[in-house]
Amino acid sequence: MSEQTLDLRHQPKDRAYAQLHAHLLNVLSGINDDVTAMATMSALIHHAFRFLWTGFYRVTGPELLQVGPYQGTLGCLDIAFGRGVCGTAAAERRTIIVADVSKFPGHISCDARAKSEIVVPVMNAQGSLIAVLDVDSEKRGRFDDEDARGLERIVRWFAGEGRG
Ligand code: SME
Repeated sequence: MSEQTLDLRHQPKDRAYAQLHAHLLNVLSGINDDVTAMATMSALIHHAFRFLWTGFYRVTGPELLQVGPYQGTLGCLDIAFGRGVCGTAAAERRTIIVADVSKFPGHISCDARAKSEIVVPVMNAQGSLIAVLDVDSEKRGRFDDEDARGLERIVRWFAGEGRG
């Protein structure tokens, strides 16, 4: 499978995300399980861009996120809605880009090397929030609107987009 783990670091972001999205749809063809998809997406996104941490926090109770499939060092286990970047993105159901995590009030630090972060809400086909996708980088200002668009497109799989 190693040849199926793309390295997209040297491509323009729009092309990189288009390639990653197509690859993910192909790899997930015939899959209908959310946790399988989260694990597969985490691995492919993480290694394509060599991020610091890439993974999902799943909604497991009222106003509660718990860590799901991820790649990277130990992530914190529980995050209440409204706490940190993940909990804020979950509560407000919107993508949040943080260029410098030290400037985000309430940022939850799981790895001191993390400098910037993006968190994208994940909805199911009924429009309910089921998770957030969290990606951390060692570089300040690593994420922009192109990352938001690319990652939002990828997680629309959970709402049924592109499932074959
Ligand atoms: N930094 C996140 C917590 C999750 S870890 O980065 C893996 C936050 O503030 O929500």
